[in-house]
Amino acid sequence: MVFNSGPIVITSTNLHVKKLSLPTFQVRISVVLHTGGKKRESNSMAQIGIFVGTVYGNALLTAKEVELVLAAQEHQVALFKNGIFEQWQTYSKEVILLITSTTGHGEIPSNIIPLFQQLKNKLNQQPALRYGIIALGDRSYDTFCGAGHRFDAMLQDQGANRIGELLKIDTLEHPNSETIACSWAKQWGALL
Ligand SMILES: Cc1cc2nc3c(=O)[nH]c(=O)nc-3n(C[C@H](O)[C@H](O)[C@H](O)COP(=O)(O)O)c2cc1C
Repeated sequence: MVFNSGPIVITSTNLHVKKLSLPTFQVRISVVLHTGGKKRESNSMAQIGIFVGTVYGNALLTAKEVELVLAAQEHQVALFKNGIFEQWQTYSKEVILLITSTTGHGEIPSNIIPLFQQLKNKLNQQPALRYGIIALGDRSYDTFCGAGHRFDAMLQDQGANRIGELLKIDTLEHPNSETIACSWAKQWGALL
């Protein structure tokens, strides 16, 4: 029996059942792969750690909605509101989604500055890490989504593999940032 992308054909000749000799017969089995509707194309389930950088809670609210989207795709998802280096390290061979706003003038929110600095100081390389970034900001700043860009630059330097494009959301124009984030996450989750 050979499995190709086409129909599976099982052929048997001179099949004997008890004393009855049956003629040659052929059975065709159609295997339908459900790739439409709600089913995902891939069966692979990823371990995803969502790390959040936030000042006023916008990025956290967005992260909670995105977590639901990814969990509905049957990924194993954990959300870290104030993620620390050791938690990040448990995902070093898995997938991390960073969701961060920008504060000050292009700065990283204080709840994840220690994590950023430790990643920079303690790790040279993170080649087995796959990651994505959702950056929240305000386009009127010339440092639009600066925190997301700084994380991305560091992870690229360390050889981590970004899945998809960095998503930048202008939260002044789109106060319901979770809507944009969720539709992006749906596509991103399918790439894992
Ligand atoms: C004091 C302050 C500074 C900000 N600085 C920037 C900035 O440099 N670049 C940017 O893109 N957005 C900036 N923003 C916009 C925030 O990133 C944006 O409002 C975001 O939605 C806040 O999300 P959070 O509630 O998760 O912190 C700033 C907002 C405030 C209040």
